[in-house]
Amino acid sequence: MSEQADQPECAGGIRMTRERVSADKKRIILNGRTVDVNQLVPIKYKWAWHFYLDSCANTWMPTEVSMQKDIEQWKNPHAFTPDERHVIKRNLGFFSTAETLVGNNIVLSIYKLVDNPECRQYLLRQAFEEAIHVHTFQYIVESLSLDETEIFNMYRENKEIYEKDEFSMSCTDGIINEKVDLSTPEGLQKFVDNLMAFYVVTEGIFFYSGFVTILSFGRQNRMPGVCEQIQYILRDESIHMNFGIQLINTIIDENPYCWTPDFQAYLVKRIKRAVELECAYAKECLPRGVLGLNVVLLREYIQYIADRRLEKLRLPRQYNSTNPFPWMSEVIDLKKEKNFFETRVTEYQTGGALEW
Ligand SMILES: [Fe+2]
Ligand SMILES: [Fe+2]
Repeated sequence: MSEQADQPECAGGIRMTRERVSADKKRIILNGRTVDVNQLVPIKYKWAWHFYLDSCANTWMPTEVSMQKDIEQWKNPHAFTPDERHVIKRNLGFFSTAETLVGNNIVLSIYKLVDNPECRQYLLRQAFEEAIHVHTFQYIVESLSLDETEIFNMYRENKEIYEKDEFSMSCTDGIINEKVDLSTPEGLQKFVDNLMAFYVVTEGIFFYSGFVTILSFGRQNRMPGVCEQIQYILRDESIHMNFGIQLINTIIDENPYCWTPDFQAYLVKRIKRAVELECAYAKECLPRGVLGLNVVLLREYIQYIADRRLEKLRLPRQYNSTNPFPWMSEVIDLKKEKNFFETRVTEYQTGGALEW
């Protein structure tokens, strides 16, 4: 056993200390400087613990969902237009790899630098959920007998998907491959940028645009198995995003010196760039529009959700767009383990706790 004072502070270290842990000494980052990072209780950040409990209440497996109707529909040459097949495959191509990117970033970047135990408890759960999401897209591709080489390589072979993933991964390398010093404004800003790129942009903007596109098929009772799984993923992702925003805001509150006007302007610029990347992707996915979806409406939606994310980050909204898909809020608020599109009249319950 080592004396706390004898140990050099190290991000990601798990040294044991002799002192009892008091909640008020806990921090989100550089927590190991002041307390033992192995001890969950006493819990300081109750929101992190509640996000963990809420996530555990949403446990599901993709293989529990029947793909029979989807397989029949996909095999029917008249069930989808070429444009509809194109947009479905593009979204499967995007999600199949993006979920892995998110999982890798949790384990290799965030978990290392967030050394508060209640946040790590949530991160362990989130990492499991990302594995389930990766499994979901593997299961869909296999069930529909899609060309797995085409789908899983899309993230490097399709320009618009590549650019979105490149946006996220550009702030992973700096965390994984370099020694980030979170006690400096530069180091901390680099890490906040990473959290923003994954929780706010990848999970909070890129994913939501994909959800609304796929779920539009579900509203016509097409691809019901895929859409049921997407509903479960959406519910998970709304918790991921809300946890991430709370994490970012708490880190900033504890380290306000990093929240400079320049850094705030930089983050706004990054989010605006992400909106343009998503709009370019939407344009390629929907060259002519399908199911009442088109590039104009998707841009409106992407801008609307970007504004909501900016506000949650206490940054100024940029677009003032309105939500062209209000039905998405009902899907997100679904609490019950049922397919929204089949049970909406009698069985769905709403839960006001989730922000989207
Ligand atoms: Fe995910
Ligand atoms: Fe996620």
